[in-house]
Amino acid sequence: MTSSNNIPVITIDGPTASGKGTVAQLVADRLGFHYLDSGALYRLTALSALRTETPLDDEQALATLAGDLRCNFANGDIFLNGDNVSMAIRAEKVGNTASKIAAWPALRQALVDVQLRFAQAPGLIADGRDMGTVIFPDACLKVFLTASAEARAQRRYKQLIDKGFSANMDDLLKDLNERDARDANRTVAPLKPAEGAYLLDTSNLTVNQAVEQVIGWYAAVKN
Ligand code: DC
Repeated sequence: MTSSNNIPVITIDGPTASGKGTVAQLVADRLGFHYLDSGALYRLTALSALRTETPLDDEQALATLAGDLRCNFANGDIFLNGDNVSMAIRAEKVGNTASKIAAWPALRQALVDVQLRFAQAPGLIADGRDMGTVIFPDACLKVFLTASAEARAQRRYKQLIDKGFSANMDDLLKDLNERDARDANRTVAPLKPAEGAYLLDTSNLTVNQAVEQVIGWYAAVKN
């Protein structure tokens, strides 16, 4: 079982700060596969909207911004119009804006082809909210990765502090719960496990254990 163009695709979906980005990137490194951080595309659109002062309720203007994104991913860095925005897109304001504008169907549609183009040989690890449900429904392995809200807030806190941002645990927990509710309750492509997804709760797992689990599942399904 592969995606429609015979490229093996593993989808890893889950809520914010579940650790899926880290796990997905490491699984991609281990298998020598490409990596799609679909959240980064929503964050890039959000950053672009903030920079151009595009109203967040103007669905068509936001869809146009998404469709016209001049971005590229190179050696772990992310560029927007030639500007290295790897740090800027990780700010909480950008993440929250991304979660808000991601509810617009036309904007999501504008990003579909960009995401499909990441499915290249020898394979792809696709990380997001709707990778297994909408973008790559024929993926050979679908994982839904989560962790308790407290464990996720703790991880997000550490991530922000490590990157030199300031952070407050109570605010983070509140933002995270709000963002979960928004991502899970929107009408288009809500966050939910895909049919047949393997559930992976990482609250009490190390990153390495989570990576091993995904690699083990892949080894079992790929034949
Ligand atoms: O994974 P992330 O925190 O970088 O994603 C930022 C926001 O983008 C998230 O809150 C919702 C949205 N998103 C989405 O709607 N669909 C995806 N496949 C990935 C992200």
